[in-house]
Parts: sequence; C-alpha cells; structure tokens
Amino acid sequence: MKSIPTELLDIIEIVRKQEEWRAKSTLNLIASENVLSPIARSLIDSDFNHRYAEGDIGHREYQGAQFIDELETIVVRLSKELFESAHVEHRAISGALSNMATYYALSKPGNHIFALEVPSGAHISFREFGTAGARGLEVHDIPFDHEKMNIDLDKFIPMIEKVEPAIITLGGSLFLFPHPVRQIKKACSTLETKIHYDGAHVLGLIAGKEFQDPLKEGADVVTGSTHKTFPGPQGALMLMNEKKVYKKVSRAIFPGLVSNHHLGRMAPLAITLLEMLEFGKVYAKQTVSNAKTLGKVVDDLGLQVLARNQGYTESHQIVIDIQECGGGKRTAVALEQAGIIANKNLIPCDDVNCVDDPSGLRLGVQEITRMGMKETEMEQVGELLASIMLKREKKEQVREKVKKLVSLFNDPQFCFKLDGEG
Ligand SMILES: Cc1ncc(COP(=O)(O)O)c(C=O)c1O
Repeated sequence: MKSIPTELLDIIEIVRKQEEWRAKSTLNLIASENVLSPIARSLIDSDFNHRYAEGDIGHREYQGAQFIDELETIVVRLSKELFESAHVEHRAISGALSNMATYYALSKPGNHIFALEVPSGAHISFREFGTAGARGLEVHDIPFDHEKMNIDLDKFIPMIEKVEPAIITLGGSLFLFPHPVRQIKKACSTLETKIHYDGAHVLGLIAGKEFQDPLKEGADVVTGSTHKTFPGPQGALMLMNEKKVYKKVSRAIFPGLVSNHHLGRMAPLAITLLEMLEFGKVYAKQTVSNAKTLGKVVDDLGLQVLARNQGYTESHQIVIDIQECGGGKRTAVALEQAGIIANKNLIPCDDVNCVDDPSGLRLGVQEITRMGMKETEMEQVGELLASIMLKREKKEQVREKVKKLVSLFNDPQFCFKLDGEG
C-alpha cells in the first residue's frame, strides 16, 4: 500500500490550525464574515456537495434531483417569507455573481449605469474594472457627501435625468447609513431605469427589519451575500417583486451564468433562514446597537470615527480614519499580531489608487454579536483596539486579553439547539 504523502497531513494540519487560530483565538471584526450555527454547520458536509441539479426546481437537466428539489422549495419559500419578496432567485453562488446576473439581465453592453466610487463604498463589482466593466457598461459616479457618509441627492438627481441610465446600483461594501432608495426611484419615474440595491453587507439587518427595506422602497432587484450580516453559508440571494424582472434575472443565472449552483449550501441556508425568521429581529437589533456603542467607545478613547455627527452608524460597521495611527496597512497588521482581525479600507478622502495603504479601517460587529457579545463587551473591544492603535501596548499582552475575551464567547447564539448541544 502507498504511504500517505506528508503533504496530505500538512493539509489536514492547516485546517486544524485555522480552526485553532481564527475560530478560537482571534477577535474577528471583518465586516463581511460570520459563522454558521452548529446545526447549519453540521449539514454543510453532505452528499449534496457531490451532485448537480442544473435547471429550475422540478425541471432539472439531471436525474437524481428529488431531494434537492425538496430542499430548494423550502429555501425559496422561507426566503420569500423572511424578506416579504414576491420572487427569489437562490442559485447565485456569490454576491459578485448576483451583481453580474443583474447587469446581464437588465442591461446591454454600452449602456450607462450609476454607482458609487470605491472610496465612497462601492464594491469592485459595480465598477468599470469589475463586473460592470466585464458587461461592457459605462459607469458614472454617484456623488457622495463625505460628512453625511451618504449619497448627495441634490447633486445626483439632475445627473439621473441627464444620463438616463439603464441601472442605478445602490448599497455597498462600506455602508453605514440607509441609501435614499425612495427618492431615487421617484426621480426615475419617467425613465426605464432599474434600481439595483446591493444588500450584500446588510442582508441580515434587512431580514431583521433593522435597516431600510429596499424592496418596499422601490428597488427592482436586491442582491445580497448570505454570509455577512446574514449568518449563513457562503452564497447569495436575489429578491424581486416584479415577475418580468424575475424571469430575466432567473434566465441570467441559468442558463446564463451558473451551471452547478453548489448544492451543499442549500441545507445550511434553509436552516439559517429559519433562524432568522425566529431570532433575526433580536440579532439585528443587537448588532446595530453594538456597532453604535463601539463607535462611541472608540471615539471617546480618541480615535477618529467617521460620521460622528450622524451617530457613527446605523449598520453593523464603523469606520475609523487611521491616518494619524500609522495608516491602514500598518494598523491592520499590528492588530492582527495582537489577535484582532480587521481590514484596511479606502475611505472617501482616499484616491482609489491607494488601495494598498488606505486611510481607513472598517470594523464589523456582526460576528461577535452572533457569538453573544453585547454593549458591555464593546467597551472591552474598544479598549483592546485603543491599546494597539493609540497606546502601543505590547502585542503579546493584548493577544492574551483577546484570547481571554473570545474564550467566553465560543458558542453561536440566535439559533436553535438540538438536545444536548451548547
Ligand atoms: C457590497 C458587496 N457586494 C458584493 C460583494 C461580493 O460578495 P461575494 O463575496 O459573496 O461574491 C461584496 C463582498 O464583500 C460586497 O461588499
């Protein structure tokens, strides 16, 4: 019998080390991540990962799809219920792909669209160097008010009338306050323009009714990742009310852009939808409250938190201008050495080209909220951040404090528990 290659053992060891380090020893403040509940996680490894089910529920190109049909019927029903959406497309395997499907369905190469610039919060997929560019779209910038950290409507409305875009993409990756969807929809009332709202970051807050409801406010398509504030498996959901739009989007997904839609994520997604129906409101409320508290704590400690006059945030994120603390790159690395994981981020004052060392740090509290932290712990988290960013405390010392704090919050909350669990 062949001996086991040492690299095989190395691979197993890498996975173990990741579990030990990221899951057990670090404070995760990356705004785009989250953790599955134990039940959802236990179902992610199943035979569905080995299978195909091209096509629509009940009309597959492959045999053997009986149980995936059952599962996806549940996913679609629960998504419609949770988001009060007439139509749901569940087969986009990522948020970026759901944006591509939106552009593919609702525009043609050469069309004009509007989106924020990246330093003002856009995801790369909205821009000419990302998915929008791959579709051959011409991207115009949505004007942004740096003080309010929101769209500058007074400047934007006349631009809409002039350009008559095919699509306006709202939402974003740096996303502190609800966007003025209603007013923008109204400004498009005599145009063919479709409103696309990228709720990748805030999908869990929308589910918990703690952010704006973009569909009700007039968005034609809402796209969103299922693994950021929505604490499910990696993937995406697309929400729509109009049947005509849904049909186009659905065809853009299959046969347009997706063949295998990664069936292994469907059971954990269904579980997370059930969890959000039951616990979503409390979870979203606690998340936003934690973010506001953390904003105030680090502001009081002397860090430059953006949107101070607006109460820092109404989402799961806060953003800190860290030019005076050594810049984005150095700060993010120093925090990592102390066991605090966060990402450097472009902020509105930055040029898009300084992506390697931007002026901002984006922090998200959705995962630590999921793990049970509340306002009291936000005080501690703020102190830990300041001990590295302001006080230059020894990293080893901070790392020990981080470990101690996270060891008390090692069990996902806002989820069902089977007997004997947790
Ligand atoms: C606003 C926004 N849209 C889309 C995406 C892409 O999502 P995914 O990573 O699921 O492709 C992101 C990623 O973080 C994002 O921030």
